[in-house]
Amino acid sequence: MILEIEGVLTPDAVADFRERLATAPWGDGRVTAGYQSALAKHNLQLPETSDAAVHLGSAVLKALAGSLLFQSAALPHSIFPPLFNQYAQGHTFGVHVDNAIRTHPASGARVRTDLSCTLFLSDPAEYDGGELVIEEGSGERRIKLPAGDMVLYPATTLHSVTPVTRGARIASFFWVQSLVADQGRRSILFDIDIAIQSLRQRIGDDDPALIALTGSYHNLLRQWATP
Ligand code: NI
Repeated sequence: MILEIEGVLTPDAVADFRERLATAPWGDGRVTAGYQSALAKHNLQLPETSDAAVHLGSAVLKALAGSLLFQSAALPHSIFPPLFNQYAQGHTFGVHVDNAIRTHPASGARVRTDLSCTLFLSDPAEYDGGELVIEEGSGERRIKLPAGDMVLYPATTLHSVTPVTRGARIASFFWVQSLVADQGRRSILFDIDIAIQSLRQRIGDDDPALIALTGSYHNLLRQWATP
């Protein structure tokens, strides 16, 4: 499942991020890449332990905590501290797969990367190219979202970022270890949750069938979750 989530950051929050990132200590993006992806990666990145990355990363986590759609789709167990990248003119990231396990340099915490996330901080009008291309089945999805919106996609997919030919594309990116590792199961739970929310709007909270369905959702989650 590839899911786009609108308005994770407000326009004011995006403006604050951009102001802080304008003077941040950008470095070579290959420092967090694995062997294969380092060969394909050409961009800038904030050092993971820099003040700006730590401060803005926790602001991203706070915004995610308030996104019901993110919580429902990702069922997060743990989230790797968000990182920040910039693709200036000529920068690109060729086809690669993300490392399965990431270890945070400061805390030593390990996260299994079930889901990859990109939170866009530049508006599409600010740059040409820089599309996130995700290979899906026999086709591909090309994604370029308004600033403040994010995309959530399986970390198991091959993906790339097309060359930026004008302007700069700034984004936050991070990985989620889900309570439910299997993406098929996670997708079923998400569909049920969306149906429950929709029914709740139409028939109210106290309908016995809705209460039973909510119980079944939690019983499935209990069977499938590995906390
Ligand atoms: Ni990647």
